[in-house]
Amino acid sequence: MFGEKEKVSTETGGSYGEMESKLKKWQNYEKLAGVVRTTHPYSEWDLETLGSSTGLYLKDEVPLWVSDYEGYGVKSGDGREKFNVKDRSTFIFIEESSSEALALKVESLTREVSELRAMAASASRVRMEEKTIKHYSSKHKILLVGEGDFSFSLCLAKAFGSASNMVATSLDSRDTLTRNYSRALQNLLQLENLGCTILHEVNAHTMSQHPFLQHKLFDRIVFNFPHAGFVFREHHSFQIESHKRVVRGFLKSSREMVSEDGEIHVTHKTAYPFCEWRIEKIAEEVGLQLVKEVPFCIWEYEGYCNKKGSGDRCNDSFPVGLCSTFKFMNKDPPTDPQVYDFI
Ligand SMILES: C[S@@+](CC[C@H](N)C(=O)[O-])C[C@H]1O[C@@H](n2cnc3c(N)ncnc32)[C@H](O)[C@@H]1O
Repeated sequence: MFGEKEKVSTETGGSYGEMESKLKKWQNYEKLAGVVRTTHPYSEWDLETLGSSTGLYLKDEVPLWVSDYEGYGVKSGDGREKFNVKDRSTFIFIEESSSEALALKVESLTREVSELRAMAASASRVRMEEKTIKHYSSKHKILLVGEGDFSFSLCLAKAFGSASNMVATSLDSRDTLTRNYSRALQNLLQLENLGCTILHEVNAHTMSQHPFLQHKLFDRIVFNFPHAGFVFREHHSFQIESHKRVVRGFLKSSREMVSEDGEIHVTHKTAYPFCEWRIEKIAEEVGLQLVKEVPFCIWEYEGYCNKKGSGDRCNDSFPVGLCSTFKFMNKDPPTDPQVYDFI
């Protein structure tokens, strides 16, 4: 098994220091001769590092089978007792600066680099994996308008596992939200942790001029249950007109902020008197077309708690009853294309 020029040690006893000085000695020997082999059981000694500190490169580690060496009787240091040779290897060293060692190092580094590349590629595949919930995707750039306690935004963010693709806004200030909604602060903190951009005091009428939002385009712009506040009864024409003003302002601004293939979503009750708002007509008037009207099922958005949003019972939920998500698109994309520069 061993060539003439090989230095062989089958000694297994001795101290760590002794092993170090033996390796040093053998390294000189190796320069003249060839390969240093030492058979040793203790992994804690880290012979590879020890070898390297003495100028040797670990070329191979081969399990030792005593039965391969006929007549070989393993003895302890004093030469008297036999001992168990289980879990022992022969460590084969060569001179660290030899061309063989250099070639082996290059080979092992190349292997490591390609393993790292494969790991990086698989990590980026996981990162890029698209997650969806109903009409919304983690790949969409989403703007949420007129949020109540931000539970709808949080529901999407949780479904995506991140909110870095979302800008969630409210008309109210952070202080007002914290006062009015029992879970607002908690939801906002979770959204922030998930990377959401949160803006307060954003008015749907003027949002396209907001310093952060201007010149940005979104794939989805969402306003759930727009409502102007409780002044008259819902069927009163003044009340209906003030709701319609909010919807018109929202659709007009959104038209300037939606990407070419993007959609503007309004979720709205469809029974009387809410159908009187005629939101499709408002959309038409501001240059949008209805792409689809889809029934809205609140239980499909886990954690979403729709809010009245104004008055003494601002934090209360309301029965959504019959309602739909109205999806609108630009009839003609704006002639002045804006810079697509998100968050
Ligand atoms: C019925 S609540 C719905 C709240 C929330 N979207 C939800 O689904 O729980 C109506 C919301 O519209 C918001 N709102 C009313 N006028 C607005 C405007 N001009 N701009 C932005 N939001 C407005 C209110 O602040 C309130 O949060």
